[in-house]
Amino acid sequence: MGRMRLIQHKKEAYWFYSVLSRLYDKFVNPLFWTVPMREAALDLAELEMGGLEVLDVGAGTGFTTAGIIARAPDTQITMIDQSPHQLARSRARFALTPCERVLGDAEDLPFADESFDRWVSAGSIEYWPEPQRAMNEAHRVLKRGGLALLIGPLRPEHPVARRLADTWMLFPEEHEYREWMENAGFVDLRTRILAAPWETESTSRYAIALAGTKTEQSAPAMLVGAKRENANERMTPVRAARFAARFGVGSLAGAAFVPIGAALMLRSKLRERA
Ligand SMILES: C[S@@+](CC[C@H](N)C(=O)[O-])C[C@H]1O[C@@H](n2cnc3c(N)ncnc32)[C@H](O)[C@@H]1O
Repeated sequence: MGRMRLIQHKKEAYWFYSVLSRLYDKFVNPLFWTVPMREAALDLAELEMGGLEVLDVGAGTGFTTAGIIARAPDTQITMIDQSPHQLARSRARFALTPCERVLGDAEDLPFADESFDRWVSAGSIEYWPEPQRAMNEAHRVLKRGGLALLIGPLRPEHPVARRLADTWMLFPEEHEYREWMENAGFVDLRTRILAAPWETESTSRYAIALAGTKTEQSAPAMLVGAKRENANERMTPVRAARFAARFGVGSLAGAAFVPIGAALMLRSKLRERA
């Protein structure tokens, strides 16, 4: 298992979103995860056949869920997130009224085997201590013939952004995404590289969407041992001190991305006008 990043922990992510959820829809999402990106990613999910049961993991305030509903209004969507603050904010989106909301962990899904036709997760993997465990769970809860769509950032190429990202959260390489999907038992992987919202060049490798299928034959190839972290566990004083340090420095590293994103977005808008 690779080195853990400062906010790549459940408790840290929980508290991070207790603050960030107030700003998320207005100031964070529009900079880093836009409608065109979402739509390009959702194209891989094959939602249009309708009548599907969809699980949205790390659904947050429901930006991706809203994209799913807009494409396929008769889908039955369950939103799961470990942050009550994020899920509470999702209630502001009227279109999501019929969705079920569940408080829970991507790495330990509280659902029976083979419950869903689609498993979708956008921008949540960054916080998962054990992505392999979460993808094994995706495979377990999907029906045979079901499809998983995993969306997340790619490790930045720019040295400064790379340093910040490596300190802050999990920004995996493309091959790591593929390995987690394949090790979980998914086959026939389809990928789409997403450009950064502030880039016009098609060479920009900002994020990735990967879809994979659970077939009649596929079984999880890699088993994982005991769960490494639980957001609800009581903290020892040593763990509490580590938490406070990681949370403080990690939040600062995270906050640094916002002005960088805003500046890049402004530059791209000015270039468009020129
Ligand atoms: C960047 S937001 C993405 C929200 C949403 N998917 C979207 O498209 O806007 C990441 C979300 O993942 C959630 N999250 C982080 N770790 C999680 C875990 N282990 N289990 C469930 N949700 C988690 C956070 O609480 C947060 O709401």
